[in-house]
Amino acid sequence: MKLFLDTANLDDIRRAAATGLICGVTTNPTLAARENRNFRLLLQEILDMTNGLVFAEVVSADAAGMVREGHELAAMSPRIVVKIPAVWEGFQAAAKLHQDGVKTAVTLVYAPTQALMAAVAGADYVAPFLGRAAEIGIDGIASVRQIAQLYREQNIATQILAASVRTAQEGWNAALAGAHILTAPLKVLQQMAHHPQTVVSLQGFMDDWQHIENL
Ligand code: E4P
Repeated sequence: MKLFLDTANLDDIRRAAATGLICGVTTNPTLAARENRNFRLLLQEILDMTNGLVFAEVVSADAAGMVREGHELAAMSPRIVVKIPAVWEGFQAAAKLHQDGVKTAVTLVYAPTQALMAAVAGADYVAPFLGRAAEIGIDGIASVRQIAQLYREQNIATQILAASVRTAQEGWNAALAGAHILTAPLKVLQQMAHHPQTVVSLQGFMDDWQHIENL
C-alpha cells in the first residue's frame, strides 16, 4: 500500500514530504485553482519539493488536445503522471500517450467499466472516486473491489489509486477492497494514524516515566 498527498498546497506538501510517508502528490484543476497562481509554475515547485510522482491533470476536451497537454506536462519531469478524465476522448488520449511512453492515470472513475477501459488504454493508474461517489449514492468501495478482482484475474498491471478519500474509514475500506494506493488530504492521512486511546495510553507511559527518568 502506498500513500499520496491530495493537494496543490505547498505548505501541506512540504510538511507531508518531510514525514517520509508519502510517495507523491496528486492534484486536479480544482485543487490547483485554490492556490490561485500559474499552474505550470506551481507544478514546478511541487516537483522541486518532492522526490515522488506528481499527478497533473489535462484540461482539454478533445483527445488531440489532451495528448498535446500530456506531452507538455510529461516534458517537465519523468516523475509526472498525466491525469486524463474517464471520457471517450480521454481513453483515446490515454492510449496514445501510453504508446508514446507517457505515464498516465485515468481519473474521475465512477463505474468499474471505466476502469476496464483504462486498462485497455494501457493506463498506469486508475482513480475511482469514493467521496464524490458516496455523495450521489454510488458505492465506490464496491467498485474498487470489483476493479481489483478484474485486474487480479486478468493480470492487469494498472494500479488502483483510490481518490476523493475524505475519511479514515473510507481509506481503510478502499485498502481492504484492493486499492494499491490511497490519495487523501493531509488531514485524512493524519486521521488514519490517530486513535484517542493511543494518546491516553501514551500519556500514562510518559507520566510513569517521569518517576524514574532522573534516577
Ligand atoms: C485526485 O487527485 C482527485 O482529483 C481528488 O482525490 C478528488 O478529491 P475530492 O473529491 O475530495 O475533490
